[in-house]
Amino acid sequence: MFLGFDLGTSSVKAILVDGDQRVLAEASAPLDLLRPQPGWSEQDPEAWWRAVLACTAALRAAKPAEWAAVRGIGLSGQMHGAVLLDATGAVLRPCILWNDTRSTAECRALEAAVPELQGIAGNLAMPGFTAPKLLWVRRHEPDLFARTRRVLLPKAWVAQRMTGDAVEEMSDASGTLWLDVGRRDWSDRLLDATGLTRAAMPWLAEGSAPAARMRAALAAEWGFAAPPLLAGGAGDNAAGAVGLGAIHAGDAFVSLGTSGVVFATTDAFRPWPRDAVHAFCHALPATWHQMGVTLSAAASLAWWAGVAGQAEAALLAEMPPPRAPSPALFLPYLSGERTPHNNAVIRGAFANLSAEAERPALTQAVLEGVAFSLRDCLDALAASGTAPRQATVIGGGSRSRAWVAILAAALGIPLHRPAAGEFGGAFGAARLARLAVTGEAAESVCTPPRRTETVEPDPDLAAAYAARLPHWRALYGALSPLET
Ligand code: XUL
Repeated sequence: MFLGFDLGTSSVKAILVDGDQRVLAEASAPLDLLRPQPGWSEQDPEAWWRAVLACTAALRAAKPAEWAAVRGIGLSGQMHGAVLLDATGAVLRPCILWNDTRSTAECRALEAAVPELQGIAGNLAMPGFTAPKLLWVRRHEPDLFARTRRVLLPKAWVAQRMTGDAVEEMSDASGTLWLDVGRRDWSDRLLDATGLTRAAMPWLAEGSAPAARMRAALAAEWGFAAPPLLAGGAGDNAAGAVGLGAIHAGDAFVSLGTSGVVFATTDAFRPWPRDAVHAFCHALPATWHQMGVTLSAAASLAWWAGVAGQAEAALLAEMPPPRAPSPALFLPYLSGERTPHNNAVIRGAFANLSAEAERPALTQAVLEGVAFSLRDCLDALAASGTAPRQATVIGGGSRSRAWVAILAAALGIPLHRPAAGEFGGAFGAARLARLAVTGEAAESVCTPPRRTETVEPDPDLAAAYAARLPHWRALYGALSPLET
C-alpha cells in the first residue's frame, strides 16, 4: 500500500494506491493564496500541514485496514517556493511561492554576479525561482535573512514534518538555481552568490530513492502498523510525468493547470536559456527534462470567469465548437511570463475587439491565447532540438474537449487524453514511493495510462491558427512599453 501527496497551490491532494496501482481512495483539502502586495504570492506552511492532516484523516476513515498497511509515502510539490527556518527549525516568514514576481532586480544582480550561472543551473535567473527570493529577503528583510539557517522547498518542509530529516530530491532542487543540474549536486558557487552555504541545504536524494523514515511517534498517531519509508518525491511536473509514464527521452505532456507547461523528458542535461526553457533533473536517476512554462493557463480562464461573473463551465458551454479563430486576441500574461520572454512585469491584454464582440468570442480568445502561449513553449523546446510529435494533455483545463481541440490545432500535434484518476502529481508520487520501497525497475512501474481519446489537430483550424500566430506574437512587442 502506498500513499501519494500532491502539495499544490490551490489544494493538497492525497491518494491511497494498492500493489496493483489501483487508486483506493482520494482526498483533497483547499489552500488559500496570500497576496499582500501586487505581484506577491505567499502561503503559510502551517496551512499546508493542516491540509495534509485533513487528507490523512479522510483517507484513514475511508479505508482503515488498507491505510494501516501503508509502506511507502511519496510527495509531489509546487516548485521553487522558499521556506526559511531559524536555528530551532521554526518558520521565519510565509513561504514566497513560484508565481511571486517581486525579485526581478535580484535576478539581474544574480546573473551579473555569476556570469556562468546559466551553464551551471541550466536556466535563466527568473523571479519564480528560489535563489532570487533569498536575495530579495537579504535586501529587504535583513534580520530574517541573518536568522535563516535552512531553506527548504515546500514539499521538503512537509516531509521534514513527517520524518524529522531535511532531504531534497533532484527535480525540485533544479528549480532553486543552487543546483549544478548536470552534476546533480549543490553548487557552492551558486550558493555563495546568495550568501548561503551547503549547511543551509537539505541533503540530496534521487526522487525514486529512499529518503527518510517517518517518525515512529507520528506513524503511531496516524495509525500505521510500521513507520513508512518516504521516497525523495518530485516537483509537481516531474511527478506528473512519472504518473503518466513520461520517463523516456521524447515522452512529452502538456499541462493546462494553474500554470501551463510543455514537458519533455531528455536523456541528458540540455540547457537552452536563450528562450527561457527550463532544463531540470527528472525524478529518476540519470534522466533530465525540459519545460516551457506559461504562468497563467487555467488561471486565465478563472480570471475571465471572475470578470464575466460566470462559472467557467457556463462560459465553456455557451461557446460554439471553434471552426475559425476568434476575431479577438488575448495575451495571457496576467502574472508576467516565463517561456520564452522571461518577463515578470509584462501584463495581459485583449486586442482587436469590435462593437460586435460578445462573451463567447472573448472566452474563445482566452483559450486560444493560452494555446498560443503554449505554442511559444513548444517552439522554444523545438529550437533547442527537442521536438515532441505528440503529447498527453493533463490539468484541470484538459477536462474541456473544446480547449484540447484548440490546443491540438495551435500546437499542430495530436494530444492524448488519459483516463481520469490515472495521472497527476499524487499518483506519480505514490509510484516513486513504491520504487523506493521495492527497488523495482522504473520501466515496469511507470507505465502510460489508458487513453480515452486522441485529439488530432483539425487541419483547417490548424492552418487558420498558423496564420494568426504572427499577429498574436506581434502584440507582445506592442505591450512591452506599458510595463510599470
Ligand atoms: C514550474 C512551476 C509551476 C509550479 C506549479 O517551474 O513553477 O509549474 O511547479 O506548481
